[in-house]
Amino acid sequence: MIVAIDGPAGVGKSSIAKMVANKLGLYYLNSGNFYRGVTYRVLHLGVDPTDAQKCIQTAKEARFDVIDGHFFLDGQNVESELHTPAIDLWASKISVIPQVRSIVNERIYELTQKLDIITEGRDMTTVVFPNAEHKFFFDAKPEVRAKRRFDQNPSAMEYERVLAEINERDEIDRNKPVGGLKIAPDAIYIDTSYLTINEVCEKVVNAIKGEKA
Ligand code: DC
Repeated sequence: MIVAIDGPAGVGKSSIAKMVANKLGLYYLNSGNFYRGVTYRVLHLGVDPTDAQKCIQTAKEARFDVIDGHFFLDGQNVESELHTPAIDLWASKISVIPQVRSIVNERIYELTQKLDIITEGRDMTTVVFPNAEHKFFFDAKPEVRAKRRFDQNPSAMEYERVLAEINERDEIDRNKPVGGLKIAPDAIYIDTSYLTINEVCEKVVNAIKGEKA
């Protein structure tokens, strides 16, 4: 079984997908970590992040694994290093490169062969798993998403700047020539603005079990 969730940054996709994975015993895969992983590698190796060819080469040479829901790059669990402002910024730009997207998608296919999975990102319901049995699109107002991000780490950045960055990343995500953020026609749309993580999780689990969402 494949459960796929898409939506913009800050709608709660990761937290909810992890909860659903635990409840239903699914293999959890966060596709954003792959783009963050490529970006981490680019920045770590001192590669110029504006040079698309070098970014593609860096992605080709990377080794990605997902073990027990955790993301490994070149054999190391780097999850705690993937959420810096520099990676937020450059991942949104590097993930625009179509060849980087193909490299990531190929590895995601390899890792998920014959598994029951729940995966989330921007193009999981449309490009990567168009035949997923269960598709969801999570959405929330940019102001609500910015407030959630701000509350997670109030000292890092002022609210207005968090909001501006969310709006900028939304714009990039929607306008990617390949893998742009779209609502699949057969996805269940959930506005998470005024729902708790538990409430969204319940809706998703109920929809998967065929009960009223
Ligand atoms: O979900 P996230 O914020 O961790 O994703 C990191 C970056 O990767 C973000 O800029 C969007 C991009 N991304 C993408 O282009 N396609 C995906 N399937 C997942 C993430």
